[in-house]
Amino acid sequence: MKYRPFGKSGREVSEIGFGAWAIGGGWGPQAEADSLAALRRALELGVNFIDTAAGYGNGKSERTIAEVLAGLDDPSAITVATKTPPTPGIWPPSPYCDMDERYPEKYLRENVAERMEMLRTDRIDILQLHTWTRAWNRDPRPFRTLRKLQEEGKIGLVGVSTPEHDQNAVIDLIRNGWIDSVQLIYNLFEQEPAAELLDTAAEHGVGVIVRVPFDEGSLTGKFTPETVFPEDDFRRNYFAGDRLERCIRRVDAIREDLRDSGYTLPQAALKFILAHPAVSVVIPGMRNALQAGLNCSVSELPDLPEPLLRRLRRHNWRRAFWYSGK
Ligand SMILES: NC(=O)c1ccc[n+]([C@@H]2O[C@H](COP(=O)([O-])OP(=O)(O)OC[C@H]3O[C@@H](n4cnc5c(N)ncnc54)[C@H](OP(=O)(O)O)[C@@H]3O)[C@@H](O)[C@H]2O)c1
Repeated sequence: MKYRPFGKSGREVSEIGFGAWAIGGGWGPQAEADSLAALRRALELGVNFIDTAAGYGNGKSERTIAEVLAGLDDPSAITVATKTPPTPGIWPPSPYCDMDERYPEKYLRENVAERMEMLRTDRIDILQLHTWTRAWNRDPRPFRTLRKLQEEGKIGLVGVSTPEHDQNAVIDLIRNGWIDSVQLIYNLFEQEPAAELLDTAAEHGVGVIVRVPFDEGSLTGKFTPETVFPEDDFRRNYFAGDRLERCIRRVDAIREDLRDSGYTLPQAALKFILAHPAVSVVIPGMRNALQAGLNCSVSELPDLPEPLLRRLRRHNWRRAFWYSGK
């Protein structure tokens, strides 16, 4: 496993981190034994960065992580990033949402205390606001609260996760020094962060966490037009209507470019992200030990050759906002 600096924080993080959404639920049936095995295998293979959130099974993902960390000799060697969501309401927040209603100080303090309880810690390594709107950029008061919590020693680093329809909304937060880390979508389809967001983060020493490297699975190449997602799998909605079919056509074109390259699709998907020097850590979701092994081993593969990297950039796809379904 290779390690990279996490912005200017002084932390060194494994370039492959553990995405812990699916182990919290919402992705169809998930056996707890598989979740525990996935996490333990990833840590054995050198992963020292885990991303989770309050919303991943209402604390379930955080509790599973706490259980695994409790079994380690030195849990403090692992960086855990979690997220506080806005109070219930429109997601992502609309331009008309009031930040003092969606992220009020009292609520933020209570929610951070709850994250500590779930993670069995008295200090959260990285606390990210789970979503944001550029409507709040001119006076981002919720980050004042998080900076206070940081001064009080309850939070290590302050971060934000981008709203997926307007990722560049967080550029002002970076430029104005409000955040130490940013979580964003950057993958073979979604390459817009290469325009400005990634470089801005690097220039300001902000740690970059790349989420959704496989486009929720499509970029592993395993879906077919016949793929049916279980009832309680959010991908039923994400890939609703003609979306799955449109994805598969584009994935086939990527596969063509990878022919004889020596890389499988999931390997190339992760290596493509790691080729950008601003990236600190990519956090594929891992549901079992097999996936943990496959994803962690990618760190040791050779970097993508420049001509292949250039070919893969052609698959940039600006397709707008899918999370709320059709
Ligand atoms: N707003 C936010 O802040 C936000 C939003 C989304 C995600 N995230 C974070 O980013 C992490 C990563 O994103 P994600 O988990 O949503 O999606 P992803 O990493 O694009 O896809 C993960 C899924 O792909 C499948 N998979 C993983 N490794 C594989 C392999 N080697 N071969 C074949 N299939 C494989 C697994 O699902 P199956 O086995 O079911 O196919 C897994 O759950 C999350 O876990 C979460 O921590 C944050």
